[in-house]
Amino acid sequence: MPNALRDDVYRRPLATALERLGIGPGWRCVDVGAGAGDVSVALAEIVGHDGRVYAVDSDPRARDEAASAASAFAQVLAITQAAEDLLLPEQVDLAFCRFLLMHVIDPELVLNRMCRVVRPGGYLVAQEPITSAGRVNGAHMSMPHARHPDVGAMLPSLVRATGAAIVDAWAEAPAGAGPGVVANYLASLTGVEPGNDSVVLPPLVTVVGRVSGPAHGDK
Ligand SMILES: C[S@@+](CC[C@H](N)C(=O)[O-])C[C@H]1O[C@@H](n2cnc3c(N)ncnc32)[C@H](O)[C@@H]1O
Repeated sequence: MPNALRDDVYRRPLATALERLGIGPGWRCVDVGAGAGDVSVALAEIVGHDGRVYAVDSDPRARDEAASAASAFAQVLAITQAAEDLLLPEQVDLAFCRFLLMHVIDPELVLNRMCRVVRPGGYLVAQEPITSAGRVNGAHMSMPHARHPDVGAMLPSLVRATGAAIVDAWAEAPAGAGPGVVANYLASLTGVEPGNDSVVLPPLVTVVGRVSGPAHGDK
């Protein structure tokens, strides 16, 4: 799936999350499972030259893509590292992931690792889908290759289990009918043009957690 398209369709949930978080210049962040770097670039634009964004991905090709997407931002450092082994040279104000936990073996372990790199009082934010809640012409969507396609439905309790306090949580789903970004996104995902059918893309659940100390259920 082209990343720019995903970014376009799911930009509103990302913008909502960053706005509610109150992120600003100078923040230090990590974008875990950064992929092509769409979220990293969005963070870099906000934190500015005094901030820092670690774009972490287990796939070395993603590091190259993220580094190239963020080439105009010296504050972005692209790193090849598995989320399960997340280790940074400093603690950060915000650890963020989007469309990552649905692919990892153990989402709880990854959230705990993310918590560990956040300074006390900093934030843990995850955005993950409930794939089967998406509908095309009323029928359920599915994503057979993802390990946890519906992990978004469990996200509030997963974040709470780390010991972080939930300060905000909500779900948003792009929807449409006829030509447009929603139809294009679905066609790029499935290869099927929805025509004028109603499309409700998988809701993206966002959970904002505040980290008070080391993760409770640390593995
Ligand atoms: C669907 S992409 C999401 C990219 C980006 N977060 C976004 O929202 O545009 C998932 C990314 O997670 C990465 N990933 C999967 N498992 C990982 C792991 N265990 N540790 C770190 N990155 C991982 C993949 O390489 C891929 O780049």
